[in-house]
Amino acid sequence: MSETQRKLPPIDLRSDTVTQPTPAMREAMARAAVGDDVFGEDPTVNELEARTAALLGKEAALFLPSGTMSNQVAIRAHTEHGDEILLEVSSHAYLYEAGAPAALSGVMCRLIPGKRGLFTAEDLRAAVRPTNMHFPPARLLCVENTHNQGGGSVWPLEQIAEVAEAARELGLRTHLDGARLWNAAAAAGRSEAEYAAYFDSVNVCFSKGLGAPVGSAQAGSAEFIRRARRFRKQFGGGMRQAGILAAAALYALERHRSRLAEDHANAKRLAQGLANLPGLDTNPAEVETNIVLIRTRSMPAPEMVRRLQQQGVLTLARDAETIRAVTHLQVSAEDIDRALNIWAEVVA
Ligand SMILES: Cc1ncc(COP(=O)(O)O)c(C=O)c1O
Repeated sequence: MSETQRKLPPIDLRSDTVTQPTPAMREAMARAAVGDDVFGEDPTVNELEARTAALLGKEAALFLPSGTMSNQVAIRAHTEHGDEILLEVSSHAYLYEAGAPAALSGVMCRLIPGKRGLFTAEDLRAAVRPTNMHFPPARLLCVENTHNQGGGSVWPLEQIAEVAEAARELGLRTHLDGARLWNAAAAAGRSEAEYAAYFDSVNVCFSKGLGAPVGSAQAGSAEFIRRARRFRKQFGGGMRQAGILAAAALYALERHRSRLAEDHANAKRLAQGLANLPGLDTNPAEVETNIVLIRTRSMPAPEMVRRLQQQGVLTLARDAETIRAVTHLQVSAEDIDRALNIWAEVVA
């Protein structure tokens, strides 16, 4: 490791959840007017909920501590125990939420095969079983946009429209896990509301690409959000003077949403640089937002992650042969170039 590299802080590409609140965001948090949000009396939370509902074109929204709770409250609010929900095989709500659909909602998960997390109306129709006393009733379809395991893939709006129409015909309710809907909208040149219009409920996260320290929101009809509010309380997610957190989310919405294209350009820059290195497979054309998947041919992914870390580049091994790198608010184009230089040394 060179002397200069040793003194520089690490470049953290593990996730867009690792961002630190900026000084200006911390000031906004310190100034926030607060009240008891379980009594509905926190003016900053109320403002965030109204702003989120308006952005998503829904009647109401609910502030929650995490994307996991937001997805799981939605699943609980849409279903009854013994129902079946349909999700893509590598979706976050199925793979990475600690078995919550079974534990908290008592539902069966039926999986839809996808390509980079996306599937078609035909795939959905093939997965839904007919109404029959022997089968659990299919109740809810969950869609993830952007798709995390798919490498930040973006659903074309037309494909969402077809899948949502098939879901309606099949009598399914629909939930969008839009933890990174902000990225999808920026990449597709669509508004978040255009995507949200196809779903009964939508989860969005403030603590990923937008850079807030905590928080997600659920949006839907006023009636659905009233029901979701009860399950948020039941799941232990009723917060008190949460305006401090909502202020960070509001700040992130106003100041950081418009800069997501920079993260996408940096991810593309990283993928293009990595595509020229030996022993790695990266497809820059598949990098649509802020997530880059890198297949390692020369050594196991965990070993490459360890060597990169020693040189000050932090990444995650997704499996034995795939590394995930994510760009965010606190990664600059210069950081990407430095990471590429280090990566070149590691593969050499
Ligand atoms: C697509 C998606 N949904 C939901 C979540 C869960 O969010 P949280 O970590 O806030 O629980 C994540 C987290 O990375 C995610 O990528």
